Amino acid sequence: MEIVTRPLFPSLVWTTLFDDRETLNPLLLELANRMRKADPAGVAKTNVVGWQSPNIIQTLDEFGEINRRILDVCRQISESQNFLPNVAYHHQAWVNISPPGASNTIHFHPNCHLSGVYYVSLKAPECGSIFFRDPRIAARMLRPPIGAETHFTATEVRMRPEEGRMYVFPSWLEHGVEVNRSDQDRVSLSFNVLATLQPSSAA
Ligand SMILES: [Fe+2]
Repeated sequence: MEIVTRPLFPSLVWTTLFDDRETLNPLLLELANRMRKADPAGVAKTNVVGWQSPNIIQTLDEFGEINRRILDVCRQISESQNFLPNVAYHHQAWVNISPPGASNTIHFHPNCHLSGVYYVSLKAPECGSIFFRDPRIAARMLRPPIGAETHFTATEVRMRPEEGRMYVFPSWLEHGVEVNRSDQDRVSLSFNVLATLQPSSAA
């Protein structure tokens, strides 16, 4: 008897590793540290101990290359999911500098479609992983007795950060970042992307 598995409503996380990370990342690291120096207080959101910039990266010329990459990656993903071709993509991005002991509490990103993170500088695996929580709330009612977790039974999934790697996920997918237990800062850029229909040129 053949039993066929059909995934329904899967939660997708996309990832890509930039080939030029060894030249891109030192520039981003310098810009990130310069921003922190200019605004040591930063903003307080999900960051515990860590420093977070305001959501202004998308307005800064010096971050032009990473802003383009964010939009390119998200546009490719959106097109793979049949977003309409006349959609405009808007994004906001910010810097996270998480020193040893810092973490990000579990959260999601309201009012946007795609969110993500790009890792600039870190020491893995001690710097901690990003983790995603099963959004199927009803699945938490009664867990089956299991040995090892599968995609069907897992309640959280961890993904190890890597310098030069970008993760993108639906903004509604709850996630957090473990405590940085390394001896150096974990530096990343996070972003939100909103897709809107462009006004018709005939209007
Ligand atoms: Fe987040």
